[in-house]
Amino acid sequence: MSYFETANIKLEKLRSKEDLIVLAIESSCDETACAIMRGEELLSNVIASQIEIHRRFGGVVPEIASRNHTMAIENVVSQSLADAGMTMDEIDVIGVTYGAGLLGALLIGVSFAKSLAYATGKPLIAVNHIKGHIAANYIACPTLTPPYLCLIASGGHTAIAKVNDFDSVEIIGTSVDDACGEAFDKVARSLGLPYPGGVEVERLALEGEPSVYMPTPFKSEKHYNFSYSGIKTAVINYIHNHEQKGEEYSRADVACSFQARAIGMMVDNTMRAAKEHNIKTIVIAGGVGSNKLLRQSMSDKCGACGINIIYPPLILCTDNAGMIASEARILVRNGGLCSDIDLDASASVKITD
Ligand code: KG4
Ligand code: ZN
Repeated sequence: MSYFETANIKLEKLRSKEDLIVLAIESSCDETACAIMRGEELLSNVIASQIEIHRRFGGVVPEIASRNHTMAIENVVSQSLADAGMTMDEIDVIGVTYGAGLLGALLIGVSFAKSLAYATGKPLIAVNHIKGHIAANYIACPTLTPPYLCLIASGGHTAIAKVNDFDSVEIIGTSVDDACGEAFDKVARSLGLPYPGGVEVERLALEGEPSVYMPTPFKSEKHYNFSYSGIKTAVINYIHNHEQKGEEYSRADVACSFQARAIGMMVDNTMRAAKEHNIKTIVIAGGVGSNKLLRQSMSDKCGACGINIIYPPLILCTDNAGMIASEARILVRNGGLCSDIDLDASASVKITD
């Protein structure tokens, strides 16, 4: 029998196993990560970050990211097994991010996971990175069940998803241009802040006031879409104008004003969507989800109108493999398919795929 046939037979037997053991690998950008879950419990979550390597270039250099994944991945997987106190024999299924992300970076994780799956005969589960971000919330709150609304705010995506069921995600609002995280990173660069920019803008904003004018996209329009290029351009123009005229300005006020509008837009749209769809639980997913203003504003607004708010701990907001293990577990338990050994990586994957 082929790998695919034997792995599928194993997978069918594992679907109802309560304490399913998942090993998952993530390499979509500049974190090489491996995590192990047993049932709902995250046993290990190893992340080898390349931030220091890419900082001097002001952003991720794809080729350098791929090379560093190649060098790190074996150690990261071994460390994850050691932290969980497990051997490969005890693992039931192998999950891996197949997209979206940097193609060369994804291929390292996918190839490593395929080799492991083929050598051990264990089922290989391909995971959509953005669905992984959403699934981080099942680790934070194991009792979370659809339906709920998810605000997805990462470096590549900003969207509001209506999660109708474990295998049914509907996008009801999305950015029509830049993703929120991307805008944070570009604003950080314009302010001369180091990579990664989002957390640096947040830090600087604490020292400022929201006194710089920021446009309000889609004022009084009825949809739930976002636009970030207008406020990003407003920041760039403000800085250029002041520098050309040799006028002093407060970088902290710029950071604070940008952050207030960027986060306010997400909070307003998500709250309006929850009310209009009569949804009582909101969850937050993605790297921008670690922003304290976003977490606090959402909590305050939800608290005031009886909506549950759930967000993952900081370590599960930015890229990690715990969230990939969580989504792989959800897929196995809800009839998701085993991948064959010709699984390919994909740079762009829709949230609903
Ligand atoms: O989800 P993520 O780790 O990677 C992607 O899948 O894209 O998100 C990374 C993005 C970056 O744009 C980063 O600047 C942003 O999340 N980010 C933040 C914060 N921490 C990370 N943005 C605003 N405030 C933060 N505290
Ligand atoms: Zn991510």
